[in-house]
Amino acid sequence: MSVPPAESPVGDTSAETLLSGVSDPAERRTLRLRLGRYGPDLLDSLRAVYPDAAEATYERLVRLAVDAHAARSDDLRALDEARLLSPDWLQQPEMVGYVTYADRYAGTLGALADRLDYLEGLGVTYLHLMPLLKPRPGESDGGYAVMDYRAVRDDLGTMADLSALAADLRGRGISLVLDLVLNHVAREHDWAVRARAGEQRYRDYFFLYGDRTQPDLYEEALPEIFPDFAPGNFTWDDEANAWVWTTFNSYQWDVNWANPDVVVEYADVICFLANAGVEVLRLDAIAFIWKRLGTDCQNQPEVHHLTRILRSVLRIVAPAAAFKAEAIVGPSDLIRYLGTGQHHGKVSDLAYHNSLMVQLWSALASRSARLMEVALAAFPAKPSTTSWGTYVRCHDDIGWAVSDADGLAAGLNPWQHRTFLSDFYSGAYPGSFARGLVFQHNPVTNDRRISGTLASLAGLELALSTNDPWRIADAVARILLLTTVVMGYGGVPLLYMGDEIGMTNDLSYADRPEHSADNRWAHRPRMDWDRVAAAAAHPDTAEGRISAGVRHLVDVRKRTPHLHASVESRIVVSPDPRLLLLRRDHPLGAMVQIYNVSESPVYLALEVVRHILGDRADEKLSGHSYDLTPASMLIAPYQALWLVAPR
Ligand code: GLC
Repeated sequence: MSVPPAESPVGDTSAETLLSGVSDPAERRTLRLRLGRYGPDLLDSLRAVYPDAAEATYERLVRLAVDAHAARSDDLRALDEARLLSPDWLQQPEMVGYVTYADRYAGTLGALADRLDYLEGLGVTYLHLMPLLKPRPGESDGGYAVMDYRAVRDDLGTMADLSALAADLRGRGISLVLDLVLNHVAREHDWAVRARAGEQRYRDYFFLYGDRTQPDLYEEALPEIFPDFAPGNFTWDDEANAWVWTTFNSYQWDVNWANPDVVVEYADVICFLANAGVEVLRLDAIAFIWKRLGTDCQNQPEVHHLTRILRSVLRIVAPAAAFKAEAIVGPSDLIRYLGTGQHHGKVSDLAYHNSLMVQLWSALASRSARLMEVALAAFPAKPSTTSWGTYVRCHDDIGWAVSDADGLAAGLNPWQHRTFLSDFYSGAYPGSFARGLVFQHNPVTNDRRISGTLASLAGLELALSTNDPWRIADAVARILLLTTVVMGYGGVPLLYMGDEIGMTNDLSYADRPEHSADNRWAHRPRMDWDRVAAAAAHPDTAEGRISAGVRHLVDVRKRTPHLHASVESRIVVSPDPRLLLLRRDHPLGAMVQIYNVSESPVYLALEVVRHILGDRADEKLSGHSYDLTPASMLIAPYQALWLVAPR
């Protein structure tokens, strides 16, 4: 299906006209209420982005929303009502995320449906299935080069399978999360094919330049995302007879959001996916969707207006569904994706906390949480209706996003520290426990990003190869420590498939031509079901201890109301740099979290904790009660404590 062209609408924004075709009075009432609530936001942002086409685009979008609502199933409408009663659903401590590739987890969507007991048993309530909409054949950047947003990858199944899986998940209380790639489409997508065939309507969906004049001007301020395998941001295309804007790979054509037809297309795709049962859409590479000469073409104000436009449409059709922003950007830019100023509560509901992830690895390598303290203390508070996606690693590489200001404030040479982290996690640094791989070495900046699974980066790969029980114990403790922070920080913790059983890097990616140039595949292994069985059968092994530890964390998290994401985790300056201290001021009482990021036992002067919690505290992870009156307490290597005031 393709959206109707722009000619028909006249720009009528009155609700009565737009809803005149809705015959059912109850449906009409619902839509009138929702339009009353979200229509003004929609129009406001349309006026900001498309001053000459705002009313006409409004009419097109509302008509599209009315049709999509008519097509929404009863089951999903019931979910809409439930979510309207629990608008904080993504903030609740019961939320536990899991990220996987359908094929790498089970083979097909159908086979995945047979493996849901495992996820349910793990306590998962949020399942992000990595790109599964139809990609271009061959290399596809892990599926992020989409050829058809309305079809599933051939070898995985069909749209009907996807809807059935979504319904199955819904029945188990698990929300389906899918990627929505907004910045680009595959060169093989119908829009790009028609653009190359010379259809002006579709040429206007992209950035095509007859010569290098404009590209060269833009390049002056643009960074390179994949300097190794896709240098530059423009690709000459013979068939298009133009330089095409391709921020990522040469086969991923950036889409021109300045064209209102594009926003209507994507609104239609979003409604289609929501009606298929997708509950959270991960807005891939959202920072990049608006281009402005002289800038790095990221985080432009129009990005937030566009998100608000799309969200307004989604709220009218499917209030059960939410957005997650994938914006791997600095803190002051990142916070805008959760809605500041006029966009408060009106853009994404979730965003990845990249900084927390980077700081965790930095703390572990340097055995010091000082930089983390500085960085997190300077982090702006997020809007109280939103949540972080917290994670120790994802399917992408880790870039050392340590700002110069934070580094200097922590008494470090920031450049040297970033170099140290690359050395450490690639295993080159003497005594390093990590076994990561260098991804995209930029010789100009000496920037080296890192690939690797949680287990390989935290030392398990090396420890297992030496068979040293002490090293294995340390590695297991590091894995569980990082997982505990992610579970306790506030937000949806995102477990990456295989990390819960300590899977190490999979180097077989090098044998597949479509993956061999991209070592991020080393940390996207196939699920090892034998290891799952072994972990259950042998609780004393590394995988057994990790698996039991993760399950325990999930269980405790769900029973700890203090972890509701509306509450901020705030830094308490620690008397010892090896300890990270966080406090959460929940209406039920305060919570203090203590994490030892080193392999040394550390004495903590208890005054700082007593000051917040009083003389006694319950420790949620062990179930013990603590007397806080002594002068100090010994925190074991890599120990985590979640202390709450007794009720
Ligand atoms: C996001 C994805 C990454 C992909 C890029 C381009 O950053 O996480 O894997 O390469 O977008 O779509």
